[in-house]
Amino acid sequence: MSLGPARDPSFRPVAGRASYLILHNTSEVVTPDPEGRAIVRHPRGAVVFQEGRVLEVGPGPELLRRHAEARPLNARGRLVTPGLVDCHTHMIFAGHRAGELQQRLRGESYAAIASRGGGIRSTVAATAAADEDTLEKSLANRLERWRANGCTTVEVKSGYGLTPAGETRLLELMRGAAQRVPARLHRTALLLHALPSEYLERRAEYLVAMSGRVLTDVRERQLATAVDVYCDPVAFTVEECRTVLRRARELGLDVKLHADQLERSGGAQLAAELGACSADHLESSTEEDWQALARAGVVGVLLPGAALTLGQRLPEAAMLRRSGARWAIATDFNPGTSPAQSLLECAALAARLCGFDAEETLMSVTWNAARALRVEGEVGHLSPGAWGDAVVWECESLEELPYWLPAVRPDTVFMRGADLALPTVERRVWP
Ligand code: NIG
Ligand code: FE
Repeated sequence: MSLGPARDPSFRPVAGRASYLILHNTSEVVTPDPEGRAIVRHPRGAVVFQEGRVLEVGPGPELLRRHAEARPLNARGRLVTPGLVDCHTHMIFAGHRAGELQQRLRGESYAAIASRGGGIRSTVAATAAADEDTLEKSLANRLERWRANGCTTVEVKSGYGLTPAGETRLLELMRGAAQRVPARLHRTALLLHALPSEYLERRAEYLVAMSGRVLTDVRERQLATAVDVYCDPVAFTVEECRTVLRRARELGLDVKLHADQLERSGGAQLAAELGACSADHLESSTEEDWQALARAGVVGVLLPGAALTLGQRLPEAAMLRRSGARWAIATDFNPGTSPAQSLLECAALAARLCGFDAEETLMSVTWNAARALRVEGEVGHLSPGAWGDAVVWECESLEELPYWLPAVRPDTVFMRGADLALPTVERRVWP
């Protein structure tokens, strides 16, 4: 859910020339077209912003002539793309699980660690023990880091609460963090993540608790726009997920799933059946599953940080292309399976592991990721009418984006047509 200009003081439109500017002298402006069908490249292009939105994109010299009144901003021969979209993160949590990575590197499985009360449940305990101020500021700091890395739209899931009160607490804190920083934050209620130990013998009761009043609350108080569940043998069954997601859909909320991560267990098929916005993970999905997603118009979200950490394979580009499905790439930033803090870094890894070309890679972190959040009309491309969220990168060509490791850094990040000062990624803004 993006902040409306009225609710966000840092984006109040400035009348006159200050909100009419032209970003010119680029090496190229590269963007998906408005329908996300292809990547369009404008060599030595320019972007004109007005009142926070894109007014026009095209050849630099011509646009400079026609928009002589606009305030000129010099990109100094660098690459310009839309602001990136990270459509899957769990970035509200306390603590870390570095010790668990060591256990896994010694050969223990994610499922074995989780079954001993480690994994998600240990982050739930750390998050419950953290005070509100700390959680809100740490989320705000993370959002700043994402923006410094070129992400202007970020999805954040709850999920480390595990009770109705715990999840709504996290969703409310997200609202607070979004007021502190200029980021487009999309809130998702992750309501089935792990079964709390006190419910081990009472699964049905837990399901009732997580699909009752909390869902109406989420809807009525606009705590989130979407509901997510973890559909996997270590978490919840297809039947259990279907119950919660159907109820969410009846209430008018978008739905999405963590699907087929550790095992192929019907999650992708359920996403297709329900017309979910996205099905995420899919490390264990088959070509048939991807075809089902394609037919249903569900975006498949690849999470290379989690796949690498858990030693799983990502699907091959050739199979994805054959399936006809759209895919996005996201960080899945979380303390257990993906402590990955740069979306572009994840995309550069996925490009190598799957075989994506530079245009497919850009599409998967812009238009397709925006589509996974159902905001492709507003962000994820630099077409007239879209929000003026753009990145000037410290490189000259699109092909360099998936090439350099560590990932290419932004030179300037624009939000709503304004070049905002960037925090360095190393520096926290809030104590
Ligand atoms: O997306 N799969 C479930 N949830 C997270 C992991 C969360 C955790 O281990 O803390 C994921 O990979
Ligand atoms: Fe996840």
